[in-house]
Amino acid sequence: MTLLKFRLVFLLSSLFILCQTQLNAQTYAKNGMVVSSDESSSEVGVDILKKGGNAIDAAVATAFSLAVTHPSAGNIGGGGFIVFMNSEGETTTIDFREKAPLAATNDMYLNEQGKLIDGINHHSAKAIGVPGTVAGLYLAHKNYGKLPWKTVVQPAVDQAKNGFVFNWYLYRAAQYFTREGNDNTFMNGYFRNEKGAIPEPGELWMQNELAETLTLIRDKGRDGFYKGKTAKKIANFMKKNGGIITKKDLAKYEAIEREPIKGSYKGYDIYSMPPPSSGGVALVEMMNLMELADFETIEFNSADHLHLVAEAMRRAFADRAEHLGDPDFNLNIPLEKLTSKAFAQKRFQEINMAKASISDSSRFGRLYDGESTTHLSTMDKEGNAVSLTYTLEYSYGSQMGSKELGFIFNNEMGDFNPQPGITKSNGQIGTAPNLVAPEKRMLSSMTPTIVGKKGKPFLVIGSPGGRTIINTVFQTVLNVLEFKMPIDKAIEALKIHHQWLPDQIVYEKLLLSPDTRKLLEAKGHTLKERFNMGALMGITYDAEKGIFVGASDSSQPDSGAIGY
Ligand code: GLY
Repeated sequence: MTLLKFRLVFLLSSLFILCQTQLNAQTYAKNGMVVSSDESSSEVGVDILKKGGNAIDAAVATAFSLAVTHPSAGNIGGGGFIVFMNSEGETTTIDFREKAPLAATNDMYLNEQGKLIDGINHHSAKAIGVPGTVAGLYLAHKNYGKLPWKTVVQPAVDQAKNGFVFNWYLYRAAQYFTREGNDNTFMNGYFRNEKGAIPEPGELWMQNELAETLTLIRDKGRDGFYKGKTAKKIANFMKKNGGIITKKDLAKYEAIEREPIKGSYKGYDIYSMPPPSSGGVALVEMMNLMELADFETIEFNSADHLHLVAEAMRRAFADRAEHLGDPDFNLNIPLEKLTSKAFAQKRFQEINMAKASISDSSRFGRLYDGESTTHLSTMDKEGNAVSLTYTLEYSYGSQMGSKELGFIFNNEMGDFNPQPGITKSNGQIGTAPNLVAPEKRMLSSMTPTIVGKKGKPFLVIGSPGGRTIINTVFQTVLNVLEFKMPIDKAIEALKIHHQWLPDQIVYEKLLLSPDTRKLLEAKGHTLKERFNMGALMGITYDAEKGIFVGASDSSQPDSGAIGY
C-alpha cells in the first residue's frame, strides 16, 4: 500500500469512527439541545426548537416521536413525569403517572384462598393502568408550550405514516417476538411490514394504525385519546381481554401539576420528582448524606467511596419502602423530614466506614419496578429546561395492544404492592402506602432531575432502569457536582446499586476492579455483577457562556444528543 493510500484509508476509517462515536460523545451547541433514546426522535425535538419552539415543545414532540421509534418504552399507552425549570429558575413538575381503574381493589390479584395469583399483576390485562402520557404531554404544552399543539404532534404522525429507519435495536426485538412458538399474536404481528415480513435494518417501517391514533390526538388534543373513537376501542379491548379499564376511567384521567422536591448540594439546587415517584425524595436524601462526607480523603471509585454510596442507598431505599406512595392517598408522607439536612446528620452517624450495615429483612422487602423506561432531556436557547421520564413498566409493557390502535399498553399496576400486609424475603412487599385502590397512582422510581446553579438550569438528567434509576441518577449527579466530571464521563462512569433488600451491591461487571471487590467484601458487602445499569440522557448548561453540552449513554446504541 502506498503512503498516500494508507493515509486515505486511515483518514476514512478515522472519519468512520468519529461518525460512529459522535452519537454518544459530548455534543456542544449554542441554541439548544435534545438528548433521547433515539437519534431520529432527538432530531424531531431539535427541528421543533429551530421552528421557534421552546424546551417544552421540543420535549412533547420528542416524546410523541419516541412512541413511534422506541416502542419498548416510548409510549402513549403508559405514563411518566416531567420536571421543568424555566430560564429564570422557576420550577414545576407534571405528574402523568398511570392510575388504577375505578374497579380496582386491593385484593384483585388474589385467589379465593387469599394467595397471589402468579404473574397476574405483571402479565395480564389487569396489569394495565389508565394511561397518562397523552394527558401529561397535553397539560405541559397547554401550560408552558409556545408552538401550536398540532405542530408538535405532527412529526410523530409523519414518522408513523411515512416510516422511519428500522434500526438494529428494533430488529433484535422483532426477531425475539416473531420466534417460533411465540403465541403472543399481537407482538408477533407488531413489527411486520405490509408484506407481513420483519423489516431489515435500514428499511423504512410504517405504522398506519398508530398514525391514525396520533392523528386524532393531533386534531382533538387529549380528547382524541380519552374520548371518542380511541376511548371506545380501548374500552372494547379491555372488555374482550379481561381488563377493567372503562370509558369512564379514561374520561376521568387528569395529569397533575405538583411542586417539585427540592434539595441542595454545596451551593447547587436540586429539583426532582415528588411522590408518586420515590425518585426525588431518595435522591435528595442521598445527596444530603454525601454533603457530610469528606471527599478530600475518599477518592472516586475507591472501596470507601462505593461503600459510602451503597450505605446511603440502603438507607434511602428503606425509607422509600416505609413511607412512600401516592400523595393523594397518603396525606402524611414525612417529605420535609426525609429531605432535611438534620435527618441526614442522624443517618450519617449510623454509617460505619469499616463495616456494611445489615438490612432488616423482617420489616419490608424488595420493591417491584420494571426495568424498561426511557428518559429525554431538552433545553432551548432561552435556557428553559425539561427533564422527562416515561415508561410502560416492562420492556414493551404488558406486550398487549389493540391492532386497530397500533400502540402497546403498560403493565404499570405491577408497581403496586400486590398483597396487603404480606412481605416476603423473596421481594414481595405489602406495606400500606402503595396498596392498590381505585384511582390511585402506583409508586415509581423515575427520577427526572434538574440541578440549578445561581438560579439557572445547570444539569438536566434522568434514566430508565426500574429501581436502579434512583441510584444511577444519584451517582451521575454526584459525579458532576462533586467529582467535576463532564457530562459524558459522568454518564459512562461505574454505577453500583443497593436497594436495601436484597442486601447486596449490584455492580457493572467490567467497571469495578477485582481488588476493589475484595475490599468491599471485606467490609461485609455481598456483590452481584451485572453488565450495565441505566441509559442516562443528560445536558449541562453554562449560563454565562450560553453553551449546552449533551451526552447520551453508550448503552443505548441508537440514542443521540443533538444540538444546534
Ligand atoms: N415502572 C418503573 C417505575 O415507575 O419506576
